[in-house]
Amino acid sequence: MTMTPFPAAALFDWYDRHARILPWRSRWPDLSPAYHVWLSEIMLQQTVVATVIPYFLDFVRRWPSVCDLAAANNDDVMAAWAGLGYYARARNLHRAAKIVCAAHGGNFPESRDALLALPGIGPYTAGAIAAIGFGASSVVVDGNIERVFARYYAISTPLPGAKADISAAYAAQHPGERPSDYPQALMDFANAVCTPKAPACNACPVAAGCAAAKAGTPEIWPVKAIKKPKPERHGIAFVAYSDTGAACLVKRPESGLLGGMLAFPSAGWTPADSDWNADAPLASPPFPANWTLLDDSVSHVFTHFSLTMRVAVARRGAVREGDKLGAGAAWQKVRPASLPTLMRKVWKLAEPVLINQSARHDND
Ligand code: ADE
Ligand code: SF4
Repeated sequence: MTMTPFPAAALFDWYDRHARILPWRSRWPDLSPAYHVWLSEIMLQQTVVATVIPYFLDFVRRWPSVCDLAAANNDDVMAAWAGLGYYARARNLHRAAKIVCAAHGGNFPESRDALLALPGIGPYTAGAIAAIGFGASSVVVDGNIERVFARYYAISTPLPGAKADISAAYAAQHPGERPSDYPQALMDFANAVCTPKAPACNACPVAAGCAAAKAGTPEIWPVKAIKKPKPERHGIAFVAYSDTGAACLVKRPESGLLGGMLAFPSAGWTPADSDWNADAPLASPPFPANWTLLDDSVSHVFTHFSLTMRVAVARRGAVREGDKLGAGAAWQKVRPASLPTLMRKVWKLAEPVLINQSARHDND
């Protein structure tokens, strides 16, 4: 069976006029440092470009090379990642940096297999680094490119089953030219023209050969498997605050939700503490104190569940250094930028109440 050609020349022509200027991007024949390509691709795995840009700039300013990143303190890396989510990415990022620095002399390997051997690098990311960082004609299919090819070829197998067909179409249609620009042109095009909800088919440079446009209902592709509704979970966070302006924070276990991140002590919401009872939310505090349950709660959506988190606050007048709080806990100044988003939301509710209590306390 012969496929309608995907017109790369029309795509490149569009890219030459509309390419986004991004801090990790170079234009063929220039290639960006593999370190920048890798860092940006890991950050972009679950996160939109606009969110990633300031994080990317902050990382390369602090850690200009992969060996600088390898040598960094892990807590600093996790704090710099805070707010981007999917924290396993940050743990794997730091592990991979150490391997590239120690085992590869600070140079990213070029081969797909050697890239795949690094923590946090799967087929998509290996292909992207090979293409964008090294100019290989590798297969690079992210959600954006999937959408373009599923539409252009009206591939109706539901995702994720269609992935193999889409990758085959990508490989068969690769122009062999401008290999670092090609996937990035497709991504920018998918973002600006072939958008998820209302693709601009009448202004599309590849519309002439597009099966979805011909069908008149482009937005029905890609076909997705029916999603199960997310289960609801409940829990509570405990914010204890001292007169010296410190809060009790814990470093969460490396594996599991918000793994390795700084957080307020909490209960109920992870599989590990399923005996927590929402009707008696204050029953398992991290330590005895005069806990007050706030009326408002925090909502946060994780990949596999939606969370409603209650918030309890307590003032602790005389907290001393070395107060026994349990493993990994410490009194420290709250820096919202170093907390994961869920815990920033908790702090946003708790802080005004605690400051108020403090004012009253001061007036006593
Ligand atoms: N999404 C993932 N990688 C990207 C890139 N290099 N350019 C634009 N969007 C992207
Ligand atoms: Fe996407 Fe429409 Fe262009 Fe087809 S014609 S590639 S559906 S924007």
